[in-house]
Amino acid sequence: MTINREYLSRTEKSIDRMINIINDLDAISKLESGELRMNFKKFDMIELVNEVFDFLEVKAKENNIQLYVSKNTDKIVNVIADHDSIRQVLVNLIDNSIKYGKNGGRTKVSCFDMDEHILIEVSDNGMGIDKEDLNRIFERFYRTPGARSVQHGGSGLGLSIVKHIIEAHNQTINVRSSIGIGTTFAFTLKKS
Ligand SMILES: Nc1ncnc2c1ncn2[C@@H]1O[C@H](COP(=O)(O)OP(=O)(O)O)[C@@H](O)[C@H]1O
Ligand SMILES: [Mg+2]
Repeated sequence: MTINREYLSRTEKSIDRMINIINDLDAISKLESGELRMNFKKFDMIELVNEVFDFLEVKAKENNIQLYVSKNTDKIVNVIADHDSIRQVLVNLIDNSIKYGKNGGRTKVSCFDMDEHILIEVSDNGMGIDKEDLNRIFERFYRTPGARSVQHGGSGLGLSIVKHIIEAHNQTINVRSSIGIGTTFAFTLKKS
């Protein structure tokens, strides 16, 4: 019997996708049941953003997208939050900005000082999201028709996880977007 490598490789990709979905669902159920304990401590947001940029560098290069911190942002931005789950938030948001970005585009992260809070924005100049879809994208498994046509699509769980994590911090997340212009996600964290 001959083994078809192409077939095996496709099977492997399907299995990877399924494992990712299971991990995401596991994270959601732990967040919903409150089983996932938040460990609040002080850390520098800019350091974390740069670490996530490094982590996603290869994917960004593949899509020809530049990742950078806004030059108006301070060199150090200390917050009090759960470091690992905020890392997950940044990975999910920046990963989306790459996936739904345009070739040759850019993703900008900015931090704004607001008395007791820091506002963190992840902004892209990608495909954008229709007005009718904007209030649904945080639902689990929801993907816009435009996103479904992107080849290496996801499972539609990323933003649902992001929202759960921000809510576990008693903070808020918002999105604004224009089709063909780009999308900005903005969330708050407690300042240190
Ligand atoms: N930066 C973005 N630009 C355009 N659409 C986006 C962006 N981020 C999220 N979306 C839309 O929101 C949907 C849900 O996002 P998410 O939960 O991360 O799912 P996934 O990445 O698996 O598609 C996406 O499928 C896409 O339609
Ligand atoms: Mg995603």
